[in-house]
Amino acid sequence: MFNFLKSNKQNKTFASLATDMHCHLLPGVDDGSSSIEESIACLKTMAAVGFQKVYLTPHFQANYPNVESDIQKRFEAMKKHLDTLNDKSLPEVVAVSGEYRFDPRFARRPGVDNVLTLPGKKLLCEFSLHFNDYKPIEIFKEFQQLGYTLILAHPERYPYLGLDSEEIAKMKQMGIFFQINVLSLNGFYGDSAQRKGFEYIEAGMAEYLGTDTHNLRYAAALKEAAENKAIQKMLKNHTFLNSQL
Ligand SMILES: [Fe+2]
Repeated sequence: MFNFLKSNKQNKTFASLATDMHCHLLPGVDDGSSSIEESIACLKTMAAVGFQKVYLTPHFQANYPNVESDIQKRFEAMKKHLDTLNDKSLPEVVAVSGEYRFDPRFARRPGVDNVLTLPGKKLLCEFSLHFNDYKPIEIFKEFQQLGYTLILAHPERYPYLGLDSEEIAKMKQMGIFFQINVLSLNGFYGDSAQRKGFEYIEAGMAEYLGTDTHNLRYAAALKEAAENKAIQKMLKNHTFLNSQL
């Protein structure tokens, strides 16, 4: 009987992070969750593996040219629904922010657009996964001059960016924070992202971890990642800034 109970117990591997600051669980706005039911199921998994607080970060990019005011309204509707449910097995869904793609096809301009940030004017941004056709340093500078702190999402996933590249060195000199996807560390995106993810962390170049949960397939992978011994060991040896958000 006790073995049965033990096998159903989910490891709260990510409890030390406390907060997930990167996921796509605002239903129906991008390539993330397609319904509130799917979002809730994913959120339950996130709580089960140790997350107590979650920020939603829908895409702002050419394929998903979301408008901030609309995203905010959709978030408020979702929040109302969650408040009504009052389900204690869910993490607190704190606020909606965004994952802004900086590339030639889409770039928000600081001071012009009302970007959705994480607390402390922290902006989660990403590049194209396929095209290395944009030099981000100038736009990083523009944002920094207006008091934004930039967090680059999943640097381990860009095939054209190596840890020892000039661009990465420059970003670190500029004080750009890096956020590694926990699913990269479990091999979800392939060998290269897995290896680079651990290398960024071991090199002390990663300040945040994020789940980047999109849907139930990601949630299932997150459960697997919570059982990964290398990830558990890494979390014992490294601290991240997630819990400050
Ligand atoms: Fe993302």
